[in-house]
Amino acid sequence: RPRVLSGIQPTADSFHLGNYLGALRQWVALQETHETFYMVVDLHAITVEQDPKVLRERTRVSAAQLLALGVDPERSALFVQSQVPEHAQLSWVLECQTGFGEASRMTQFKDKASKQGADHASVGLFTYPILQAADILIYQANAVPVGEDQRQHLELSRNLAQRFNHRFGKTFVVPEPHIVKDTAKIFDLQDPTSKMSKSASSPNGLIELLDEPKKSAKKIRSAVTDTGREIVFDPEHKAGVSNLLTIYSAIGGKSIPELEAEYADKGYGNLKVDLAEVLVQFVTPFQERVRSYLDDVTELDKVLARGADRARSVAAETLSVVYDRIGFLPAV
Ligand code: TYM
Repeated sequence: RPRVLSGIQPTADSFHLGNYLGALRQWVALQETHETFYMVVDLHAITVEQDPKVLRERTRVSAAQLLALGVDPERSALFVQSQVPEHAQLSWVLECQTGFGEASRMTQFKDKASKQGADHASVGLFTYPILQAADILIYQANAVPVGEDQRQHLELSRNLAQRFNHRFGKTFVVPEPHIVKDTAKIFDLQDPTSKMSKSASSPNGLIELLDEPKKSAKKIRSAVTDTGREIVFDPEHKAGVSNLLTIYSAIGGKSIPELEAEYADKGYGNLKVDLAEVLVQFVTPFQERVRSYLDDVTELDKVLARGADRARSVAAETLSVVYDRIGFLPAV
């Protein structure tokens, strides 16, 4: 079976709809066809300041959400990144293969650093994409399910794999991004030209999966729509309505043409009311499942420890080949 690896940061109280539709839905689906490795990337989270207690809590809540969305720990290795030390070890080796200029061109770093002021941004934030490359390459992953915003990081991972293979002999699989076009970028409900993100300018633009369902329903009903009144999918001229149709189609299980036909004689209001209801139907049982996983933290930690064991056996194998190729002495 081809391999898949992906990760998500534990940096918010809840995953949002963009995370789910852009990436996590694909994580679940790929379990059918691939050998899957999924992790909560706490090493990446500390590239910006974290409160230790909150980080620990959010790491567990993240794992519980992944389980509740359908990541199956029997089929997938589900683990926490810091519990597999080989990621950080490979990252160092790859940092030494990365040009300073090359790393400086990463747009996510530039965006985040400019928000904090470059002098305050950590060196870890700068090397973040190289750690991400290590995450992927250490499992010899063939495919990486992510949203559109990760494309540049994936390109760096591919370049580093190719460069290492060229210099030291074939060592890494060159990974392909797995980006599902229809849901690759979910937009902010209040500003449908920017992506939905936890750092959105208005909290009303962001749907958090663990938020009170009534509150999320209200956010959907007050989403910004466009001038005109026709319900058609036209991202360029009707960004707001098109974003709602994308979301509706993905969680409601109807195609966009079906939805266009269904709402042909109806208004934006009807569409939003119905989508709000579909969303409530989705998040309510999801939240119950999350709560039940969090009720037994001992068991949850055991599941993650087993996942880390499985991941480590693969990661250690790759690392030992890499160390050998680089010219390090054999492990004692
Ligand atoms: P993170 O934690 O920011 O986001 C997790 C996943 O959600 C996707 N995503 C979106 N997709 C569509 N529309 C949106 N509005 C939206 N917002 C977020 C992201 O593309 C991502 O797939 N660097 C990664 C974490 C990471 C990783 C890895 C990913 C670390 N190591 C190895 C893959 C492989 C990140 O910050 O994702």
